[in-house]
Amino acid sequence: MSTKYTELIDKIATENNATKNELIEIITNHENDNYLFDKADELRQKIYGKDVFLRGLIEFTNYCKNNCLYCGIRMGNHNVERYRLTKSEILECCETGYKLGFRTFVLQGGEDLFYTDEMLCDIIKTIKSDYNDCAITLSLGERSFDSFQKLYDAGADRYLLRHETSNPEHYTKLHPQNMSLKTRTDCLLELRRIGFQVGAGFMVGSPYQTTENLAEDLLFLKDFNPHMVGIGPFIPHKDTPYKEYKQGSMRDTLVMVALTRLLIPKTLLPSTTALGTINPQGREMGLKAGANVVMPNLSPTRFRELYSLYDNKICTGDEAAECRVCLEKRVISAGFKIVTNRGDSKV
Ligand code: 5AD
Ligand code: FES
Repeated sequence: MSTKYTELIDKIATENNATKNELIEIITNHENDNYLFDKADELRQKIYGKDVFLRGLIEFTNYCKNNCLYCGIRMGNHNVERYRLTKSEILECCETGYKLGFRTFVLQGGEDLFYTDEMLCDIIKTIKSDYNDCAITLSLGERSFDSFQKLYDAGADRYLLRHETSNPEHYTKLHPQNMSLKTRTDCLLELRRIGFQVGAGFMVGSPYQTTENLAEDLLFLKDFNPHMVGIGPFIPHKDTPYKEYKQGSMRDTLVMVALTRLLIPKTLLPSTTALGTINPQGREMGLKAGANVVMPNLSPTRFRELYSLYDNKICTGDEAAECRVCLEKRVISAGFKIVTNRGDSKV
């Protein structure tokens, strides 16, 4: 282990800040990874102890009007059978989830205009009145500011919208021409202004991403200071233009998770399904590198395979209860414990 780097890691952990060059140094030097992961773990434990928060993920539609080049449910993919859950199907997921101890429901979907503001507000209000001790997180992509406001007024608490990459040129390589980083960051700022707890994040190892981009993503997060940060490896999907690109590495993803913990100590950081997909122990390793959230799938089993953002996604054949038990075992084996409160951010 080199002292130069351990000192640098200590400095970042103490100051919760770093320069781009310092971040690049840590990302490119592999020698001190374990030291970095331990520091991140230590910092997380100072704030959240051994607690790991549970979020029940309900993937309620795989229709999407966008054509992001990396994503398996892009509009241009005609090989995917599309589905939408009805209000009562969504409520059934919540009922199952509530019984299993979930106190946050994450409603995630493609950008699907079929669900009007009125429909979504009605669903949100019903969930909030049936389960008033629960938080609702939305992950619906970009919508109008007026729509964000309505969803918040209806009772939604949090909103996840990954920025995907903070470099505008890189952004245009991952997305079609009608999408821009500016629109995305404007949405993030507006969501926060409205009062949502907001999540940003990015993929590690996405096509054309450089080490410099990764450092920029971390600095973007540091500056934006989100309540939540979603980070997972890019995994190619066979029906996308980026099917030939290689997946993001486990090591780089863990380093990004750990550095995010050092830069934004209080943020809520999931150990993602994508991490569990590229390595059977991926989610345990994520927790040990500073993550403190797990998001078991609550979607009805018959639809899970259809929500394939990337190939070989795990958990597509498991019932909600199995995922809940499986994740609890994993959390315990990593040395942590699951807590079943709402788990609001301390940011
Ligand atoms: N590999 C990994 N993550 C992906 N996402 C979309 N497609 C892929 C892929 N091929 C991520 C994006 C999006 C989130 C819901 O899933 O970052 O924001
Ligand atoms: Fe779904 Fe392990 S989390 S089976």
